Amino acid sequence: MNAIEAILSRKSSPRLQDPAPSEKELELIYKAALRAPDHGALKPWKFINVSGDGRKKLAKASLKAIEISDPESAKKNKEKILNAPFRAPLIIIVVASVKEDSIIPEIEQILSAGAAAQNILIASHSLGYSAIWRTGFLAFNKEVSLSFDLDKNDIVIGYLYIGSTDKKLEVPEISNINEFVYKWS
Ligand SMILES: Cc1cc2nc3c(=O)[nH]c(=O)nc-3n(C[C@H](O)[C@H](O)[C@H](O)COP(=O)(O)O)c2cc1C
Repeated sequence: MNAIEAILSRKSSPRLQDPAPSEKELELIYKAALRAPDHGALKPWKFINVSGDGRKKLAKASLKAIEISDPESAKKNKEKILNAPFRAPLIIIVVASVKEDSIIPEIEQILSAGAAAQNILIASHSLGYSAIWRTGFLAFNKEVSLSFDLDKNDIVIGYLYIGSTDKKLEVPEISNINEFVYKWS
């Protein structure tokens, strides 16, 4: 699959199962992430690779964190929180590790992490896997982030759920590009 084919045929999949990418494939996926555009060569990224029993650890840490930040929600959503990490065999939590002492603005560093996330989605798809980028109530919860031992300038920008699906994914019709493109010529 060439790059254009990979980009145009990517489709998110909410339910994912084994197999997940192998160690060798993961190395390629992370190499793709590290080729994200990066102003000032700051490498403002961290990736938390959660698989196997790591998902139990994530489930427990998420529940504990939400019990602190929002006990009501923890009670109400306990099952949802505990089951969330098991929606895929692999989760890559993408973090913008913002370098505060840099002249490169925070927004650019966050966008760089977003580009790394997209590279992960495209690389996974081109290797035959499916994925979905989620945030939801976990990603932006400070207590959950603290449970990952992140630094104070680290911002979780997404949970990338990765695995396989036997469902045929329908790629939607691509909109009329002229609705979005303003030509000056
Ligand atoms: C930053 C970001 C956060 C997202 N968070 C969620 C989420 O929490 N839950 C969800 O179902 N989809 C979320 N999405 C949307 C899906 O990743 C996906 O883009 C959407 O379902 C459309 O599918 P497609 O990517 O195949 O077009 C998010 C997308 C982005 C870019």
